[in-house]
Amino acid sequence: MALRRQALCDELGSLGEYLFPMFVCVSANPAVDKRLRLTRLVPGAVNRATEVKAAPGGKATHVAMVLRTLGADPDWIGFTGGASGQELLDGLSALGIRARPIRTEHPTRVNLEIIDEAACVTEILEPGVAPSQSEIASFQDACEEQFKRGESQAIVIASGSLPPGMPRDFYAALIHHAHAHGCKFFLDTSGEALRSSFEACPDFVKPNREEAEWITGRKITDLASAREAISHFFAAGARSVAISLGKGGLVWCPGKGRKVYFASAAVVQARSTVGCGDAVVAAFASAAGAGLTAEETVRLAAACGAANCLADSPGAAQAEDIGRLRKELLVERLS
Ligand SMILES: Nc1ncnc2c1ncn2[C@@H]1O[C@H](COP(=O)(O)OP(=O)(O)OP(=O)(O)O)[C@@H](O)[C@H]1O
Ligand SMILES: [Mg+2]
Repeated sequence: MALRRQALCDELGSLGEYLFPMFVCVSANPAVDKRLRLTRLVPGAVNRATEVKAAPGGKATHVAMVLRTLGADPDWIGFTGGASGQELLDGLSALGIRARPIRTEHPTRVNLEIIDEAACVTEILEPGVAPSQSEIASFQDACEEQFKRGESQAIVIASGSLPPGMPRDFYAALIHHAHAHGCKFFLDTSGEALRSSFEACPDFVKPNREEAEWITGRKITDLASAREAISHFFAAGARSVAISLGKGGLVWCPGKGRKVYFASAAVVQARSTVGCGDAVVAAFASAAGAGLTAEETVRLAAACGAANCLADSPGAAQAEDIGRLRKELLVERLS
């Protein structure tokens, strides 16, 4: 462990030396991620995979994985069921991530990511099955217990969609609980689950371009329109907003009335971009926990997003890639 930590300090500069607060990754709709490789995907035909890799999945799970790589020791709370749920828990345990499973009668979903030789990526995501009322109540109780344990210092990160049947304002209720215990709440979701969270004032949100456009009803075509979208999110109640633009980079404003930062995307040969946003969210959370400056924060975030493009599977960004890309990125403070 000491060696690993030293290696991380070398790769990430000062970040590996920080003592992090507690991180709680809330995974309402986790999955087992299956990455299949094949020559060419032909719809309507029998397609044979040349390689299959399974890994713990769901957005909050990817966040926990990247936090671990950044030297933190996150807790994970999620629904798990059946043999796939056990596979997910075994995977988390192998990664050294502490899991608090809330058992469901229905098995954990499996998400497919199909990559062909031309690097064309097709994703097939199961919606997940509705948890029962008592399973939802157990989940809420487990989160609240964890927030209490955070002793006013925890950073809670909730990422991903809600499974069918979950109340739309589920995240809003969790944010209220987290704030009541003095925890910060970072949220990465989309659609109604995101919209209905604003009244609870999430401490950080990171929609991607399409998610932001859906909420604001306006196209994001340049930095000016990205900044307008950020203002919209502040007016709605968010306290810090980053909008990720894929290859177009990342725009972030740490708080209403503060300067806006832009990080270019590093030039990489992407194997897949699935999970880049999750890596970015992990970086923002760890940077907040470590008290990095705004410039260091946005640089780390864009480096983690780019490093995810080079990884074997979503959430598996390597510390060496993050460390190297961090130095290559262009970061600008916009006037
Ligand atoms: N092709 C790429 N090359 C370099 N960096 C990239 C690339 N794609 C994404 N990134 C980095 O990762 C960040 C997040 O990517 P993106 O906007 O695709 O997130 P996302 O759509 O939320 O992803 P997901 O939801 O799958 O995790 C970008 O802002 C950028 O900094
Ligand atoms: Mg995303």
